Amino acid sequence: MSDIHELVRARYAAAARVVSERASARATGPAEGCDAPRGGKACCSDNTAADDADRSCCGPSGGCCSDGEGSLYGGDAAGLPEAALQASLGCGNPVAVAELQPGETVLDLGSGGGIDVLLSARRVGPSGKVYGLDMTGEMLDLARRNQRTAGADNVRFLKGYIEDVPLPDRSVDVIISNCVINLAADKRRVFEEMHRVLRPGGRIGITDIVADDELGPRERAARGSYTGCIAGALSSSEYTRGLAAAGFEDVSITRTHEVADRMYSAVVRARRP
Ligand SMILES: C[S@@+](CC[C@H](N)C(=O)[O-])C[C@H]1O[C@@H](n2cnc3c(N)ncnc32)[C@H](O)[C@@H]1O
Repeated sequence: MSDIHELVRARYAAAARVVSERASARATGPAEGCDAPRGGKACCSDNTAADDADRSCCGPSGGCCSDGEGSLYGGDAAGLPEAALQASLGCGNPVAVAELQPGETVLDLGSGGGIDVLLSARRVGPSGKVYGLDMTGEMLDLARRNQRTAGADNVRFLKGYIEDVPLPDRSVDVIISNCVINLAADKRRVFEEMHRVLRPGGRIGITDIVADDELGPRERAARGSYTGCIAGALSSSEYTRGLAAAGFEDVSITRTHEVADRMYSAVVRARRP
């Protein structure tokens, strides 16, 4: 495990613990003074998970991405376990972007509390299969609890790094990911692994943070922390070149909204020839 992995793991382990503790508190009684306790909100915010844990459950949203209530998903998230919504730390809706079809096999890189895995499971149906991959044990525990609550049988959560995917070559139809690749210690390796596990003709539908091309590493770091999904973000050109170098075709990057000065949430699509 690299230093970056450990920094990122510690932050998201803390975020998972916040959501799990709130879920346990809800199970044993009503939350004090708050009808709708809010989630970890660690992504894209410079608040640490400890700050989030300290914050009042009705406090202001610190994140620029998910608000921990599934609002990035519109009606898609209806009926999901509350803890899956509260653990939502993404910056878009990759499930909608990937246009999943019944029977497909899907891999979610950095699956967190499992929101995109559970939504994908609905779309691919009983004849399909969805893998969620995450390196953080606390997130995997939370995701597996959410899976049991949702009764999703076509789902498997795997522990591992997105730089070293524990799946065979050419075993996946679609790769999704939500606000994770910016956190990866070795992006080139992630792109190579994505290409390896996708079947020929397979596609990626990802939401992630991207920087304007003219922002250098120091300017990106001035806008937010690495673990907060900002400092480690690639620029649009770096993303496009990285995917092309790994063998992807039809790469497109579409900005959806600004999350910091000249840094954006974006939809990334590409195809393995
Ligand atoms: C910002 S959260 C997003 C979680 C989820 N995709 C969502 O939308 O709620 C980032 C997640 O990616 C995981 N992660 C970050 N870097 C990783 C890596 N190199 N390998 C595996 N998982 C990683 C973290 O443990 C965390 O659960």
